[in-house]
Amino acid sequence: MITPDTIEKIMDAVRIEEVVGEFVSLKRRGVNLVGLCPFHNEKTPSFSVSAPKGIFKCFGCGKGGNAVNFLMEHEHYTYPEALRYLAQKYNIEIEEERPSPEQQQAMDLKESLFNVSAFAQKYFEERLHESEEGRSIALTYLKERGFTTEVIRRFGLGYCPGAWDDFTQTALKNGYKKEYLQMASLSKSKDQMLYDTFRDRIIFPIHNLSGRVLGFGGRILTNEKNRPKYINSAESEIYQKSKVLYGIYFAKSQMVALDNCYLVEGYTDVIALHQAGITNVIATSGTALTTDQIKLIRRYTSNVTLLFDGDPAGIKAAFRGLDLILEEGLNVRVVLFPDGEDPDSFAREKRPAEVRSFVEEQAADFVSFKTSLLLEETKDDPIRKAQLIKEIAKTIALIPEPIARSIYVQKCSTMMGVEEQLMVSEVNRIRREKLKNKHRQETPGGEDMGPEPDDRRAAPQKQEPEEANHRPEQEIIRLLLNHGGKEIIFEVENEDKRMEEVAVTVAEFILQDIRSDGLLPDNPACQAIFNEYAVCWEQKKLPTHSIFTEHQNDEVRKLAIDLLTSQHTLSKNWEHRHKIYVKEEEEELKVRVLYAVYAFKLQKLEKMLAEIQQKIRDASLQTSENDEMLLELMKDQRDLLEKRRAFAHELDRVVTR
Ligand code: UTP
Ligand code: MN
Repeated sequence: MITPDTIEKIMDAVRIEEVVGEFVSLKRRGVNLVGLCPFHNEKTPSFSVSAPKGIFKCFGCGKGGNAVNFLMEHEHYTYPEALRYLAQKYNIEIEEERPSPEQQQAMDLKESLFNVSAFAQKYFEERLHESEEGRSIALTYLKERGFTTEVIRRFGLGYCPGAWDDFTQTALKNGYKKEYLQMASLSKSKDQMLYDTFRDRIIFPIHNLSGRVLGFGGRILTNEKNRPKYINSAESEIYQKSKVLYGIYFAKSQMVALDNCYLVEGYTDVIALHQAGITNVIATSGTALTTDQIKLIRRYTSNVTLLFDGDPAGIKAAFRGLDLILEEGLNVRVVLFPDGEDPDSFAREKRPAEVRSFVEEQAADFVSFKTSLLLEETKDDPIRKAQLIKEIAKTIALIPEPIARSIYVQKCSTMMGVEEQLMVSEVNRIRREKLKNKHRQETPGGEDMGPEPDDRRAAPQKQEPEEANHRPEQEIIRLLLNHGGKEIIFEVENEDKRMEEVAVTVAEFILQDIRSDGLLPDNPACQAIFNEYAVCWEQKKLPTHSIFTEHQNDEVRKLAIDLLTSQHTLSKNWEHRHKIYVKEEEEELKVRVLYAVYAFKLQKLEKMLAEIQQKIRDASLQTSENDEMLLELMKDQRDLLEKRRAFAHELDRVVTR
């Protein structure tokens, strides 16, 4: 645990241009430095580094952030890894906080499991290459399957001898504890005796992102049907199936370089493709892809090509599980192998160059692939064609990116020979429906979608609970406290009518925007924090959290602590009514800030409007002497309505971008 003090020292020392400069060749242009973006392919530089602001930003692919973000993105470091790298670069001594006893214990357990797994991997590998049994049975088998020594070594393949407990005994003799052997699935107990889980099997070690072994798959050497073909490590403190992808350690750099990855089913497919020179390949190990695995892929690339058997089962498999990938916004392509072949068998028969050109040429985008396949089935049957349109629209509706969606709509309607507008409305209908269902699931018993931003006249007049009334202003305070010092980037037009990006801090944006309208939060605690924050900010200081969390006013203290500890104080319900899709906080910071400010102002406006309308009602009940005042009030009302419409429009634009 690196101390906050050290982190501050590091951040103070960092010069973004020096950090980025190690990886990207930068040239000065005005106050900024520019270069070719390392995150996407480009020929003219759109990657810009601002030394005074300490940030980088690519105008091509949109990536941006500070030096730490750059390292995490470019080198795939974790946050502490990036900090350590910077500390070393700037000669800063890292002070570490002692972990708590519980933290220590958890770390010790993980470390022990890693250690025993590393020992096992070495043992298995040694047995494969050095022992008589391993060489004659297992190595021969692998060689017969066409694997070269080089690739066998690279993946650290091994062999666990057939004897009952040779591995377990060796491990115990080397001081590894029984309990860790069992927790790591390496040994099992029967009648008080320990035996080797993987005995008489070829071993495929499974590596984490940094190359440490987390678990194993063990394949039998025969075609026996009464024993499982593979035995895999059970879940443990270090191995969570749903979060691991086989081969990712060996694939990740090429996944980034080629901005694509191939997804296959099994261990042997990964290895066979590597041998054919295709190294951006990973496997799910026989299970359906999980959201965590998709997120892992997305750290390196947003393009996935699925490689499948060409038989009906393979095609079905291609259809399944795909919804999830599309929904996560990845681009999916599909390669079908000739009937009965998988990547492994195909790679064995063909020369590497043939394999490579096959997967490159055959890759079809998934939506077109599905359309053409189903189109073949429907022939000219109009009823089935109508079903097909619905089916394809359902798939397209999953894609979150509007531009990608409209491209697919165009493509598929052409393929099917139907009007584009027909597909558009079907896709939109499905998306609306889904939004409704999602909302219904999360609002117990409620069918009420709430007013759309541009339809506020229909807003129910009933008084919302006190707490709900304070939500927009609480959100403002929450953003100030949690993210006040962070920068968000806006596009503005400069004097030469060119678009230019400017970074402002969250605090600057919120305080300026709200105060320029002369507004203040209503709730006393919110107001106090807002004002004290503004005072600090005017003195060009960012207030520390402790000013508020140690505040003498109980309400202020309580609110600050609440807002600093809860991730999102907005209830799910409230957000859904307003069509906000909560992504990771940081990523969506700008949207959240804009949204919060508009929502806050809108609420204020509503209140003023209600007051005026009350006055109008009162005035119109009285005599005609009030005509002038009435006119005045009506004019105010019109202004407010106009403003509200503009705000609602802005709000809508922010959340539906
Ligand atoms: P496959 O049967 O295609 O295995 O299952 P494979 O790795 O290609 O092996 P070969 O070519 O027959 O030697 C695909 C994946 O499903 C998982 C494994 O991860 C395997 O790689 N699997 C399969 C199991 O976990 N257990 C099994 O019994 C079978
Ligand atoms: Mn296979």
